[in-house]
Amino acid sequence: MNIQALLSAKVSQAMVLAGAPADCEPQVRPSARVQFGDYQANGIMAVAKKLGQAPRQLAETVLQHLDLAGIASKMEIAGPGFINIFLDRQWLAENAKTALRQPRLGIAHVEPQTIVIDYSAPNVAKEMHVGHVRSTIIGDAAVRTLEFLGHHVIRANHVGDWGTQFGMLIAYLEKQQNENHAEMALADLEAFYREAKRTYDEDPAFAERARRYVVKLQSGDEYCRQMWKKLVDITMSQNQKVYDRLNVTLSRKDVMGESLYNDMLPGIVSDLKAKGLAVESEGATVVFLDEFQNKEGEPMGVIIQKKDGGYLYTTTDIACAKYRYETLHADRVLYYIDSRQHQHLLQAWTIVRKAGYVPDNVPLEHHAFGMMLGKDGRPFKTRSGGTIKLSDLLDEAYQRAYTLVREKNPEMSEDEVKQLAEVVGIGAVKYADLSKSRTTDYIFDWDNMLAFEGNTAPYLLYAYTRVLSVFRKAGIDAETLKGELVITEDREALLATRLLQFEEVITQVARDGTPHVMCAYLYDLAGLFSGFYEHCPILNAEEESTRFSRLQLAALTAKTLQQGLDTLGIKTVERM
Ligand code: ARG
Repeated sequence: MNIQALLSAKVSQAMVLAGAPADCEPQVRPSARVQFGDYQANGIMAVAKKLGQAPRQLAETVLQHLDLAGIASKMEIAGPGFINIFLDRQWLAENAKTALRQPRLGIAHVEPQTIVIDYSAPNVAKEMHVGHVRSTIIGDAAVRTLEFLGHHVIRANHVGDWGTQFGMLIAYLEKQQNENHAEMALADLEAFYREAKRTYDEDPAFAERARRYVVKLQSGDEYCRQMWKKLVDITMSQNQKVYDRLNVTLSRKDVMGESLYNDMLPGIVSDLKAKGLAVESEGATVVFLDEFQNKEGEPMGVIIQKKDGGYLYTTTDIACAKYRYETLHADRVLYYIDSRQHQHLLQAWTIVRKAGYVPDNVPLEHHAFGMMLGKDGRPFKTRSGGTIKLSDLLDEAYQRAYTLVREKNPEMSEDEVKQLAEVVGIGAVKYADLSKSRTTDYIFDWDNMLAFEGNTAPYLLYAYTRVLSVFRKAGIDAETLKGELVITEDREALLATRLLQFEEVITQVARDGTPHVMCAYLYDLAGLFSGFYEHCPILNAEEESTRFSRLQLAALTAKTLQQGLDTLGIKTVERM
């Protein structure tokens, strides 16, 4: 049930009958305060202005035409011309009952689109760094949300698996293999890369070989190709462990690395030249864009092919957008990449649009996010200034969660504590990232993310187990609840309304690609459940009918929390 959509349709109908143009915006939103009802329509003032009418008078006319029989118990005009809508409790009760009994909480499948989501995108022979972590976690929540609604989602892991550094990496892998160190060296990718670079800088013969290997690799030499593949395989199998542990849905088949677009690049450059978009400039091939200015205030030149014939990151992103539209038939493409790459993407896409590779009605969206900062407000690093290995970070999350869970449950078996600690620890790291509005930098703080109060994973997981414990105590199966659902108390009405807003929240997350909206919703929902639980006795209710009615609200709360956390990729536990 999408209440917002339903009310919007009704209000806009009434507005048209009252003389508003057909495309008027009713602007129906959940009310900010209880005294304003459950929803308010804010669109009347703007339309009245256009029509040259007094807003309150137009509101009167709209109200005369607004038929919410059976849905609203009261409607009133407020302020300069808002309409406040109070939902009917019986209608709420019926819809809550239906949602509980239907699969997927009764949420309708949407008209499916093909949506490509570009996320994670680590680099070969490098450890995943914190920037990739944010992309991986937030991108995967978007994937899950869009899939839940019925879209055809294509996960595109744009792995950095190409570039001149591969000559050096192949030469170094060869050296290590000759010395029988290969397996060991690749266990620590960060060190492997560093040592390869050091050898390259210090040993001219090695550097020479490295340069030869780049050329050979690019011309398809079998030996170099195999060595390259080995580097990719080892990196991705290490990353896969992290994905699995993070409960992220990426697998090997989702890798669409930079190398995938190699064969397209020469054609793109010549096409851009033929279209008059690209020109030769000082030996390189460049697209000058009026939309961007360089330091001198002149159109910015974007190099798409270097003097030595090499292609650039931008050239690959041009090809990649084209491929996603032409070959994958994307209706929409979402890129989860940190905000420092914003200009890069805009430049690539400006060229893509000018060349007509992707039509304007197929959105290319950059869902940018800020950096992960340490508690001191500086980029998140180890004490010695190195990048933090993701696997170490997750180990620490587990350790800290273990201590926490053990403290709370001294009696619990060792196995159970371990399982719980993994879910809570990983959930905490993920949720801390997901719950922040993505565009800003965010401060990585263990104490905050593992707190049992506030908008955190432990709080929500605990709230979920509390709802389940009601059923455990009563010895009742939440799946087979019977009886009527009747809403009499304010707290019941508030909880039911919020529960029925799940669909509009998930729709918003899908539209805007913003999982933090789901987090805020679940946090609020858990709070409303607490209020309800304290003020409306469930198992001690006087009437049996009240008990079953409230149990149904509890069951719907549990399902909604579980489903919501699932769209975020957060696992739940039965007790805690
Ligand atoms: N591998 C890149 C990096 O580490 C991110 C790639 C993002 N995706 C893209 N289509 N450019 O910065």
